Amino acid sequence: MKIVTTIQEVREQVKAWRKEGQTVGLVPTMGYLHEGHASLMDASVRDNDKTVISVFVNPMQFGPTEDLESYPRDLAHDAALAEAHGVDLIFHPEPEEMYHEGFSSFVDMTVLTEELCGLSRPVHFRGVCTVVAKLFNIVQPDKAYFGKKDAQQLAVIRHMVDDLNMNLEIIGCPIVREEDGLAKSSRNTYLNPEERKAALILSQAIALGAELVRRGETDCKAITDAMKTKIETEPLARIDYVKLVDAATMQQIPVLDRPALCAIAVFIGRTRLIDNFFTEDVGGAV
Ligand code: PAJ
Repeated sequence: MKIVTTIQEVREQVKAWRKEGQTVGLVPTMGYLHEGHASLMDASVRDNDKTVISVFVNPMQFGPTEDLESYPRDLAHDAALAEAHGVDLIFHPEPEEMYHEGFSSFVDMTVLTEELCGLSRPVHFRGVCTVVAKLFNIVQPDKAYFGKKDAQQLAVIRHMVDDLNMNLEIIGCPIVREEDGLAKSSRNTYLNPEERKAALILSQAIALGAELVRRGETDCKAITDAMKTKIETEPLARIDYVKLVDAATMQQIPVLDRPALCAIAVFIGRTRLIDNFFTEDVGGAV
């Protein structure tokens, strides 16, 4: 496995693989890799001859008061994990390599970014779309892998690829959880032991919502109210949002009459955590 820091090195390596007729998968990440990321790498290694991962804490997708500086980083650990999972190349650029002086082109998305994390984090998806579009242009993969953990991100990327005729396939992969149910996240490292326990309220609320959908409840407010009441039983939790949205447009819906996404964001202390389920993944009626 190679680690490279320049766009030119990635291009040369991918060109050499292409010459040999190899297919290429890409897994974009911000590093501090865990088993959630590993599941995406495994899927890529399974589907493609070669797998590239990017490890880049993208400044553009962090708001001014967010955790860019404190975001955890550990390249040695990331390299060991990637190698163990059969990754062929890590692209680990400095911000200056991705955003040269005078950088002034952005990918902005409207409708799909109006709700959920787009509402709470106004500059976030502009940064995500711009960096992911750049990574697609740099690596030119056949397939790229994203987790359902970041469900709105997955929908936004799919939509960008469709809108802008990008020539690759987007693969969505299931959420990987800790044994007790907490969705794995690089940000879980911010939690102290008491908060780590309290964070279980997210997956418990998700399990409750999924159960209501499975039982045939179609009134979105009834579902989200029950989930909110559950979350409010945890004193360390502060709700950012609990919503049911159309799975394609990410717009809020009153009745479950189409494939939907139930998504939550909850602060546990100062740490903002997210979790979700797609109704079609939990045996919902539609
Ligand atoms: P990051 O948070 O590092 O996540 C990289 C990928 O891993 C994303 O597609 C995310 O959905 C997936 N992932 C994270 N935790 C997961 C889990 N528990 N189960 C399954 N998949 C999981 O998302 C980003 O980075 C960035 O926004 C990025 C796309 C790299 C653009 O900068």
